[in-house]
Amino acid sequence: MTRAAPPPSAEPNGRAGMPLFNEQPLKLGLFGINCSGGLTMTEAETTYEVTWEHTSKIAKKADEVGFEALIPIARWKGFGGSTDFNGTAFETYTWAAALAAQTENIAIVATSHLPTVHPIVAAKQAATIDHVSGGRFALNLVMGWFTSEMEMFGVVQRGRTDRYAFGDEWLGVVRDLWTSDDPVDFAGEYVTVADAVSKPRPLQQPHPVLINAGNSPAGLDFSARNVDINFAAAHTLDDARTYSARIRDLAWREYRRSMSVMMSAFVICRDTEEEARQVRAHILEKGDYVGARNLATTLGMQSSSFDSQVSAGLDPFVLSFGAYTIVGTPEQVASQLVDLSRAGIDGVALAFLDYLEELTHFDENVMPLLREAGIRR
Ligand SMILES: Cc1cc2nc3c(=O)[nH]c(=O)nc-3n(C[C@H](O)[C@H](O)[C@H](O)COP(=O)(O)O)c2cc1C
Repeated sequence: MTRAAPPPSAEPNGRAGMPLFNEQPLKLGLFGINCSGGLTMTEAETTYEVTWEHTSKIAKKADEVGFEALIPIARWKGFGGSTDFNGTAFETYTWAAALAAQTENIAIVATSHLPTVHPIVAAKQAATIDHVSGGRFALNLVMGWFTSEMEMFGVVQRGRTDRYAFGDEWLGVVRDLWTSDDPVDFAGEYVTVADAVSKPRPLQQPHPVLINAGNSPAGLDFSARNVDINFAAAHTLDDARTYSARIRDLAWREYRRSMSVMMSAFVICRDTEEEARQVRAHILEKGDYVGARNLATTLGMQSSSFDSQVSAGLDPFVLSFGAYTIVGTPEQVASQLVDLSRAGIDGVALAFLDYLEELTHFDENVMPLLREAGIRR
């Protein structure tokens, strides 16, 4: 598996207005601002709430400070416990459409559970948001790992390989609808459409940026074949390095495709390390461990991204849904983001306990250090 040089990150044509492919060495996004709790399962004090006014304020702030993307979590049901973590959540296509109209430069993502949306509906919704945003829309394709959530729709949860086989058919139809001059006829094992059309075409060519967080062998293969950006499930710096090399190599070797790799990270940044550690301890003290156990049990059984976190106990779930966590001073946070960039990560979608307050602090205190380090311009 050697090659002279790694394949370059995706830099597709026809996406001139798409910030996820701008010149910034490390792209920055916000993750989870449509869902109660964001990534954190705690009763610790925060001004963060899922109201339209608040989510819109955070989105505009992220746009103003020059972040590249707003990435929502697709969630239809919470995890119980004292917080019913993620139980209150804005639907992501409609959320994205509204934010597209309220922002100027940032990419807006909809995260779509493919089994819950007919591909013709999804193709048209995506094209509509691409037009509203002026070509800043991206679609994050998720297959649905949370069985009781998927079963609310009256569908039978498929095994993982079948989930991605379904995803292949679904996406094939959507891609054809976006790009074909002729009506689309398709009769697959899971999806059938007859004489199907969808106009207008998306503004981005050949189609909006596609994202997927597949992590199992079937998921990685789906990503490598189909999407522009894979969301890495990386819990350590070593994971980030190995994972990003692996998915890029797979995409290039098997499909001659280049690929970007992003990941999520939960950040607690304070002026002193002591303060940051205290916030971490406070989040855990007030943690919703009943909800965390529900989540960990579900994840352990149904998603391969989090195996190491499940065995590490519940704290990583309370803190950050098991995501990569960075705790420290602005210098420490900046230095860890530089490390991730050097490890091959093209972008990080950040989450905070208090998104609005902490984004402002991040902009004032961390962004200048990222510019000094050359990973932001
Ligand atoms: C950054 C990131 C964001 C994700 N967002 C969602 C989401 O919004 N909704 C969801 O059901 N799953 C989400 N997932 C889970 C993935 O869709 C996927 O199930 C998981 O990464 C495991 O991969 P696998 O399906 O190949 O086992 C996310 C995963 C990651 C790493």
